[in-house]
Amino acid sequence: MRPQQAPFPASRLRRTRQSEGVRALVRENALSRGDLIWPVFVRSGAGIEEPVPSMPGVFRRSVDKVVDAAREAADLGIGAMCIFPYTGVEDRTEDCEGAWDPENNANRAIRAIRDAVPEMVIMTDVALDTYNINGHDGFVEDGTIVNDRTVEALVKMALAQADAGAHIIGPSDMMDGRIAAIRSGLEEADHTDVMIMSYAAKYASAFYGPFRDAVGASGALTGDKKTYQMDYANSNEALRLIERDLREGADMVMVKPGMPYLDICHRVKSTFGAPTFAYQVSGEYSMIKAAAQNGWIDEQRIMIESLMGFKRAGCDGILTYFAPAAARLLGA
Ligand code: PBG
Repeated sequence: MRPQQAPFPASRLRRTRQSEGVRALVRENALSRGDLIWPVFVRSGAGIEEPVPSMPGVFRRSVDKVVDAAREAADLGIGAMCIFPYTGVEDRTEDCEGAWDPENNANRAIRAIRDAVPEMVIMTDVALDTYNINGHDGFVEDGTIVNDRTVEALVKMALAQADAGAHIIGPSDMMDGRIAAIRSGLEEADHTDVMIMSYAAKYASAFYGPFRDAVGASGALTGDKKTYQMDYANSNEALRLIERDLREGADMVMVKPGMPYLDICHRVKSTFGAPTFAYQVSGEYSMIKAAAQNGWIDEQRIMIESLMGFKRAGCDGILTYFAPAAARLLGA
């Protein structure tokens, strides 16, 4: 679509920028509290709110504190949260059985939020990395990350989350065939309304560094994730992955990381028109925080500008650690 333009001076494009009132009239995109999903980290214990050093303003919370956070989020008008477990080395195993334990910290948090804040939409993370002794998203056999055995485990993990009351299952593992397997597992278990948001285009990225500290995976990870997460030089491959996951039954798709991948967000939305989300990941958050703490940038303005960029690129919503701060600024 190309608007017809009169030559200057009939056309002066500054006319529609002359005041906030006019700018508001012609504004093309909007950011609201309903667009935000807030990722939170849950750990064992009670009454604990432990700061994550590499992510200022982000905490690992015990289940009771996650519930308090959910209440605060609901009061701020945030409609959705995503639960990530922090797991110490002592709770990691080669078989990753903690991942589908109905009583693991993530599943306990899901149940507790469902009880205390029933209107909150709860999303999960499906991948073995937070339970794996070697920090990988799949089982490792002879140094190789194996696909099909991992998918069977991911289905068990997703079912335990759905049983706990999760609304949106978020497979972030990048194994092949997991969306179809999880979808049919959910249907067979009568979880017909439980949604899947596929981390369909997830890149092997250095921007996840602070997150791996937050979930206790940094020390654990051996090698890299390049045999399953995407090569950041690729764009067509992202579209193939998104199409595949939509065909397998994903209700929503995600691009991750966010800001360096706005071209992918735009291609995905304009090609498929499906509900599209971006994850403004830990490294993006921490870069903004660090620069703001140095007094080099205006944190609030950069935060809103970066979130609006996702909307302009075509995203329906954003997973962001800034969710509470942004919701405070955005209001109703
Ligand atoms: C685990 C997972 C990761 C993130 C979300 N789920 C890390 C990884 O793939 O190593 C990253 C989130 C962030 O950086 O904020 N599969």
